[in-house]
Amino acid sequence: MTSHQDETVQQIRKQYNFRPFVDAPASNEKVDLLDLTVIDLSKFDSGPDARKELATSLEKALTEYGFFRVVNHGFSPEFLDHMKSVAQSTFETTDEVKSKFFAGETKIEEDKDLELGVIRGTGFKPRGYWKYSNDTPDNVEFYNFRHFLHPEIFHNRIEYPEFVQYHLDDIRKYFSELHTEVQRKVLTLMDIILEIPEGTLYNNFFPAIENDTLNSGTGFGRFLLYHPVDQEYNKKTSSTWMRGHTDAGALTFILSQSILSLQIRSYADNQWKYVSHVPNSIIVNIGDTFKFLTDGYFKSSIHRVHTAPEDQKNYTRNTVIYFASPKLDIYMDSGSLASPKLKRLGYKLDDGLERITVRQWDEAKGKFFNKTSANRKTNLTLYGRESVGSLIGENPIQV
Ligand SMILES: [Fe+2]
Repeated sequence: MTSHQDETVQQIRKQYNFRPFVDAPASNEKVDLLDLTVIDLSKFDSGPDARKELATSLEKALTEYGFFRVVNHGFSPEFLDHMKSVAQSTFETTDEVKSKFFAGETKIEEDKDLELGVIRGTGFKPRGYWKYSNDTPDNVEFYNFRHFLHPEIFHNRIEYPEFVQYHLDDIRKYFSELHTEVQRKVLTLMDIILEIPEGTLYNNFFPAIENDTLNSGTGFGRFLLYHPVDQEYNKKTSSTWMRGHTDAGALTFILSQSILSLQIRSYADNQWKYVSHVPNSIIVNIGDTFKFLTDGYFKSSIHRVHTAPEDQKNYTRNTVIYFASPKLDIYMDSGSLASPKLKRLGYKLDDGLERITVRQWDEAKGKFFNKTSANRKTNLTLYGRESVGSLIGENPIQV
């Protein structure tokens, strides 16, 4: 970077109140906490026995509740703190600037056949775009990124707000390495669970081929900011912001942060529990795509975003998420995997269900999560498959 560029970055950072990210103090309230299975990826390269051991603990987590945590993933704590700082400052601009970069408004050739909109498209979803229950405006802003596996498209063909533009290298590094390094290792452990050759899932379903969107795995990254709300707001929304739902994609990677807010509903006892925080870890969950790909062997857990406990309720909650999906033309059932394990256990596509692709499911579900479905009161059935949750609005899930 030349000294002139460096000066420009410093000026832009000042405009966007760029500052270190500081985690809110840990909660001291007595709440039900769920400690997720920890997958230590530093053991991944220690040979087949070590991988087998990791795969065994991962299998338990995936088949019981579909959530786990990865540590020693390869990102330094300093880099993760930097990403959180970049994420928090992305929102430190005017409504006018945000409106110029509204998610889903910008179309590029590669996205022309996709239903993008606010849920999937590059750009901002402003606060209050949706309504929660009792007509309460939502309290979440987010900014989506696409195409970070494809530098030519990511850097040259998409327009970004000035602050984002000057941090694209770091943003691309984070999301693309999550895809090619962290996710590749997780997928390899899944290969071991499914008794298919190591590398099958990554190479055949999620490859990253630069500037070839059709033949690459896909997905989108997201910076999120939940604003603190008052008691009245919590009363109106029953303290639940994002309602119970499962994710549409294959794997979701969430940077762990200290504010207790993400809750998982246990399949064992149907109770909601906060997911605990482990500094510098990444929380991972299975989405519908992997549930379907394994014909139900892996669980796609129902989760939601709930008000934080009393001692954390006045803090802004920032996080960074990557929603990863395989190639869009993959058929989402165990016929695509040819897994001896699933065959032996009897997992197969239900009789009478047509085969559907990742693209069909993603578009059908994504469409309902855009504005038109803001207050859905029932679960959706799409292509004969249940899509759990309304995201927002009244909660159709019995708790
Ligand atoms: Fe989710």
